[in-house]
Amino acid sequence: MAANIIVRNLKQLNDAELEEFLSLNLNEFEVDLKSEDSDCELEIMNVKDNIVTMENIGSDISDFESGEIAKANLEASDLFNQSKCGQSCKGFKSLVIDLNYVPTHLVVRNCSSRMQQEKPLVSDFLFRQLFDTTSSTYTYLLADTTTKEAVLIDPVFEHAVRDAQLCKDLNLSLKYAMNTHMHADHITGSGVLKKITGCKSLISKASGAAADIHVDESDVVQFGRHILKIFATPGHTNGCLTYYSPEQGIAFTGDTLLIRGCGRTDFQEGNSATLYQNVHEKIFTLPPATKLYPAHDYKGLTVTTVDEEKRLNPRLTKSLEKFIEIMDNLNLPYPKMIDKAVPANRVCGVFEVSTE
Ligand SMILES: [Fe+2]
Repeated sequence: MAANIIVRNLKQLNDAELEEFLSLNLNEFEVDLKSEDSDCELEIMNVKDNIVTMENIGSDISDFESGEIAKANLEASDLFNQSKCGQSCKGFKSLVIDLNYVPTHLVVRNCSSRMQQEKPLVSDFLFRQLFDTTSSTYTYLLADTTTKEAVLIDPVFEHAVRDAQLCKDLNLSLKYAMNTHMHADHITGSGVLKKITGCKSLISKASGAAADIHVDESDVVQFGRHILKIFATPGHTNGCLTYYSPEQGIAFTGDTLLIRGCGRTDFQEGNSATLYQNVHEKIFTLPPATKLYPAHDYKGLTVTTVDEEKRLNPRLTKSLEKFIEIMDNLNLPYPKMIDKAVPANRVCGVFEVSTE
């Protein structure tokens, strides 16, 4: 049976209205977007057999002029199989969609934050993402290509020579070997890199680790003309930092926020509530298109965005209480490297480095 519903904006519906809307079986509905939603897109969510699929239909309606009534005939396969993300429908006032099938539930919502454009890196900013297969650690090389000043974020002991060689190959001068926190799963490469390149090591004051330079939230890291702002984001450890480049729209979240996950909070100075608070108050308040580069990934993913994690992180989209419950019940094994890595990282990873 056809139904015809006008939805102004799901954000404006109260819980009862939303529940009523979700319970409807619709095969036709009308969306009337408020004029202030000038840069929005529509998304259909279909809940079937407890599987939620969400498909953007912006590309179907992007050719229409502002204020026009657009009609789109969608097949079921469009919703389930074919992603149509990629375009926003600027200036839409109204949209009518006829559906050729009856979904179990259907939602149209404004998701204006979703399609914000990711910033391209500026031409004088060098970015390399390096990987350690043993600990699944990402190391990041950043540089000002004009002045050649560079920094390495979270270098790994076993790859210090590789990283120093890469700097040499690219004619870069390594200024800092810096860490997001005192790691428990690998030994930092900072100490070796200091010896090879003459760089300075850098870590947070709150980490309790030795380094040439200790920083906190009031500091910035500068290399050439580029800067990284610093957010204190403890919770995985007391000294966890997030480094943020507003100009490039990128942030390095360490173990505070991983792609669809987060660092564990059951050892060192871990605190689930603190981690949750810092992610929500600091990382999740960055622009939605900000690209987030974590310290690790165990599935081969390399980058995420603030918007993705706000929508899709299976832990951090939950309430604080639920998040704490999840973190309390991970039942993870004792970290293999912790008894070796933490004492070494407390002294900049130099404890077993030969002076020869
Ligand atoms: Fe860690």
